[in-house]
Amino acid sequence: MSIFAKDVLKGKHALVTGATGGIGSETAKVLAGMGASVTITGRRLEKLDELSKEISEMDLNSKVFSYAADLGKEEEREKLVSAAEKAHGPVSLLVNNAGVLGGGTVDQLEQADIERVMYINYTSTVLLTQLIYKTMKQQKDGAIVNVASLSGLRGTYGGTAYASSKFALIGFTHSMAVEAIEHGIRVNAVCPGFVDTEMGRNSVQNKADRENRSVSEVIKGSIPSGRMTTPSEVANTIAFLLTDAAENIVGESVKISGGSVLR
Ligand SMILES: NC(=O)c1ccc[n+]([C@@H]2O[C@H](COP(=O)([O-])OP(=O)(O)OC[C@H]3O[C@@H](n4cnc5c(N)ncnc54)[C@H](OP(=O)(O)O)[C@@H]3O)[C@@H](O)[C@H]2O)c1
Repeated sequence: MSIFAKDVLKGKHALVTGATGGIGSETAKVLAGMGASVTITGRRLEKLDELSKEISEMDLNSKVFSYAADLGKEEEREKLVSAAEKAHGPVSLLVNNAGVLGGGTVDQLEQADIERVMYINYTSTVLLTQLIYKTMKQQKDGAIVNVASLSGLRGTYGGTAYASSKFALIGFTHSMAVEAIEHGIRVNAVCPGFVDTEMGRNSVQNKADRENRSVSEVIKGSIPSGRMTTPSEVANTIAFLLTDAAENIVGESVKISGGSVLR
């Protein structure tokens, strides 16, 4: 059951990237349940179709538009934005959630890995945001949430490529926030710790393998609350940051980690 009123985002158009993944699909469902028209995107068409169907079944009046795009390609980013605007009008809420893991310890890092992770997690996010920001400024209306990570606030073993990209994303969030607020547009980030998605489970497994411990030992040892965060806990935080209830929350990096940051 949603903790938000059904019409709180009525009249808004939310574009959610990485909607074929764990956090993005949950976020799209929460925002649709709050009355927003939603554009969902990712590369996997069959996952987009499944999510689109699920949202329509939740509420027959929901407006969902899906568009498959590789955000690593300029032409696909541009086509995504124009198709989304054609379907639902100007984008007023943007959730930059698409992201990839990658890289390794410094001695193993290859230039191609650094560039791939940085390009998807940071550069393409900035470029997509620029395309949408133009219209948000004309409309004097907008809110953006960038999905960063606890790894954007502190280093992690073997995480040089990923952590660097998320530090960069937080730097972008903070800097853009002070520019955009002059136009009535709010920009924030969320910083999840381990989230129970394919990516999060892989990260915990990698840590367990490296430390020669079981997955449950890693979870108990590194998360004070004793469990991973659920995708819906991240989605609800994103949704809150997109509402007017968060009107004076600007340039924050909100941690959602069961207290992991304290260890
Ligand atoms: N899970 C965690 O523990 C955790 C913790 C902190 C932060 N995060 C961040 O949360 C975000 C979502 O992660 P998740 O856990 O939901 O992971 P996930 O299930 O692996 O989802 C990743 C999403 O990114 C999309 N994506 C990747 N490369 C893309 C590309 N080139 N073009 C378009 N879309 C692309 C994927 O879509 P396609 O494969 O369909 O293209 C997928 O929808 C990421 O930014 C991640 O860094 C996750």
